[in-house]
Amino acid sequence: MDSNQVDQSKPDMGTPIDVIIMAAGKGTRMKSKTPKVLHTLAGRPLLKHVLDTAAQLSARKVVVITGHGAIEVEAACTSNTRATAGFDLKFARQEPQLGTGHAVQQALPALADDGIVVVLSGDVPLTQADTLFHLIRACQGSRLALLTLEMANPAGYGRIVRQAATLNEAGAVQAIVEHKDASDAQRQITEIYSGIMAVPAVRLKGWLARLDNQNAQGEYYLTDIVKFAVADGVAVVAHTIDDAVQVAGVNSPVQLAELERAFQLRMAHQLMEQGVRLADPARLDVRGDLLCDHDVSIDVNCVFEGQVNLGEGVRIGANCVIANAVIEAGAVIHPFTHIDGEKLGVTVGAGALIGPFARLRPGAHLGADVHIGNFVEVKNSTLAQGAKANHLAYLGDATVGERVNFGAGSITANYDGANKHRTVIEADVHVGSNCVLVAPVTIGAGGTVGGGSTITKSTEPGALSVARGKQVSIANWQRPQKSPKAPSA
Ligand code: UD1
Ligand code: MG
Repeated sequence: MDSNQVDQSKPDMGTPIDVIIMAAGKGTRMKSKTPKVLHTLAGRPLLKHVLDTAAQLSARKVVVITGHGAIEVEAACTSNTRATAGFDLKFARQEPQLGTGHAVQQALPALADDGIVVVLSGDVPLTQADTLFHLIRACQGSRLALLTLEMANPAGYGRIVRQAATLNEAGAVQAIVEHKDASDAQRQITEIYSGIMAVPAVRLKGWLARLDNQNAQGEYYLTDIVKFAVADGVAVVAHTIDDAVQVAGVNSPVQLAELERAFQLRMAHQLMEQGVRLADPARLDVRGDLLCDHDVSIDVNCVFEGQVNLGEGVRIGANCVIANAVIEAGAVIHPFTHIDGEKLGVTVGAGALIGPFARLRPGAHLGADVHIGNFVEVKNSTLAQGAKANHLAYLGDATVGERVNFGAGSITANYDGANKHRTVIEADVHVGSNCVLVAPVTIGAGGTVGGGSTITKSTEPGALSVARGKQVSIANWQRPQKSPKAPSA
């Protein structure tokens, strides 16, 4: 953005924003031991997505209401701090769970009076920050602002009850009536409450103190505060959006999968807008951050995890899984390749050719124009420019020089059963097929290792080393014959 431009999407940040995230519910319909808000979408717990959104609001404080699986949920929030950076994170336990109003009551002691409180749910992961900025602006620091949605099939949701509309304006919001408490006439209303609101903290505290549980579910409804606002003459405003994905909650595995696809489609469209060519936007999964330079193309069924950077002109074949890796310009990853850098990372140099069916593990750092072919595994090894291992090989804890050719079926024996050792293969070495290089060992520059050799001692530059049984040939060898069957008695 031009630095002279005012960011229209952010409200005046004069009033601090505090966020409450409700995450105490059981999630019975997930039929899982894992607390609902810890099920993952795009590789991250649902609750982490909501925490990310709170971070984008520049929230001052975030209070997560926990109950079912509280210990697990709280631990998940405090691990992996990316989402929680920048705000004060607090937890409030809600035991037992007596409704959404009761949930928010638990957070009140942690909240100052001078803020705007934004209420979110831990199981509604895809609300966008700019939607919430609109809502906060609608609140104006003094009003009760509700995020609402028109729904063709509103069954189950709280309905927005309004006064009769005039010609110019929708009628003022009077109440939210929960589906189970609604009359037949109210059930015809198609404007629903999303579960998300922005409200001045000081007002919220007063209204919550007045809640009761005289309703169809015997619960303390947060939504009852709308009645109190109206009674107190506080304006209630609705900010209505039409993107249902932003307020969709996860209650079942089906809904989780639907939101996953919605999220992935959103990612795919963002990538295509940046110029990435996707063979099929419906067959891509990004579970982390995928950064692409110009002219990247990605074939179907690829999965990207963690931080992956693809340089200019990189091509990714079908069915690749790539995690925590940097693929430099012009490299080609052929189909069915698995790359996982974990903590050490993987680098694939410019113009390298990898796969099909290759496996690059943590600490594989490949220079420019390296070739790694089918059924080759590389772990914690550096390969300098132009090195090749094209078939059925293992390079572990190895330092491989420029232009080395590592033959089919050859391996570095890096593990003695207790410790790992390094193999150094200097520039321009040719390792034949089916060799075992027993580490620690160094193959001197320009040397050759004869096929089938087991090398246990370092070799001199330029040497040919052969370490295998001498060939024996016996002329006119007669193979044994099957003995005739003894006649049965
Ligand atoms: C709520 C709203 C409803 C709205 C709908 C949108 C109320 C009374 N109703 O209904 O108007 O249309 O969301 O999805 O607020 N939770 C707790 N503690 C509790 C109860 C719930 O932490 O005691 C949490 C749940 O884990 C969940 C969220 O609050 O994350 C919403 O609760 P849920 O039971 O799904 O509310 P709904 O009945 O769907
Ligand atoms: Mg719900």
